[in-house]
Amino acid sequence: MFLKKNNLPILNEGYDQYPPIDFGLGSKIYIKKKKYIDLSFCSGVMLLGHQSNIFRNAVKNIVKKKISIFGSPNTYAIKFSKTLKKIIPNYSKYIFTSSGSEAIYKSIRICKALTKKNIIIACSGSWHGSSDKLLFGANKNLNPISLSAGISKYDKNNIKFIPYNNIFKSKQILEKFKNKIKCIIVEPIQGGLPVEKGVKKFLKFLESFSKKNNIILLFDEMITGLRIDGFSAQKYFNIKPDISVFGKCFGGGMPIGIIAINNNIYKKIQKNNSKIFFGGTFSANSMSSYIGRLTTEYIANNRKKIFKLINSKSNFFVNNLSKFIKENKINCGVYNFKSIIRIIFSK
Ligand SMILES: Cc1ncc(COP(=O)(O)O)c(C=O)c1O
Repeated sequence: MFLKKNNLPILNEGYDQYPPIDFGLGSKIYIKKKKYIDLSFCSGVMLLGHQSNIFRNAVKNIVKKKISIFGSPNTYAIKFSKTLKKIIPNYSKYIFTSSGSEAIYKSIRICKALTKKNIIIACSGSWHGSSDKLLFGANKNLNPISLSAGISKYDKNNIKFIPYNNIFKSKQILEKFKNKIKCIIVEPIQGGLPVEKGVKKFLKFLESFSKKNNIILLFDEMITGLRIDGFSAQKYFNIKPDISVFGKCFGGGMPIGIIAINNNIYKKIQKNNSKIFFGGTFSANSMSSYIGRLTTEYIANNRKKIFKLINSKSNFFVNNLSKFIKENKINCGVYNFKSIIRIIFSK
């Protein structure tokens, strides 16, 4: 068995090493009655903190309004799609999924259906969740390394990495494969190394290369969506991807993934009469849609106030941590783009 300390009947990541969290309130989590500052907030989901008033009232309303779960079309998902249309307006259709990874693998399915091509281009240092087609890291030579056992050789052969934020080297690789590429997937700001310098130029390059070569540009805004001042990285950098995927904080604490497709992609799907399967028991479910919509609308309506606070707290944290690291000669660096912060130990 893999279990190290506890012989628990659960095999999800992390349970072999850490005592589990008991509950959360505001910016704190509680483990065995001890209080800790939560630096993760469910990997960027709980933008308003734990047990926010928005979340608590939404949960109360779920009971009051008899909102159950249906596995069928419901008014809550429709209302949420209309909210998304206002907040991320460059898209004509939205597809709800139960997780970010599901949104990713279903958008890769769209790319395959529309282009009939096989190669996915990803950037070194990216993370796109646990779908088989993207569960790879890049080694120093940009060759894919499987991050799990059980991944097929076909998937390994069909992912090619370009170096994030390096136009010169990326261009060479893209030119080599350009006729076989179904999509370029990129985290506009990488959660693994969130820095802004040079990124706009790099993203603009990817946008123009894909347009010129009829390649689908897919933005993974799972972390950046809503988190960049209540909008998105694509708005911040003024880029118009063909497809974008969102998730995390859009669910307000409930599981969610969102695929947003622009009109061009939608027209192609219709023209080819492509029957692309998007279904799932919990896709577009009423509870995620209801809590997600109320949270998203609250964040969007109060974006100035919320992000002034979040961004200034993030700067305070980064500045003081950097100072502490320097003064104590600790071998690590702190990187951030607004509230997206990563501490990287160099040894
Ligand atoms: C950039 C990015 N893409 C995709 C995912 C996958 O989302 P999920 O964990 O909801 O499947 C994550 C999750 O951490 C992510 O950070």
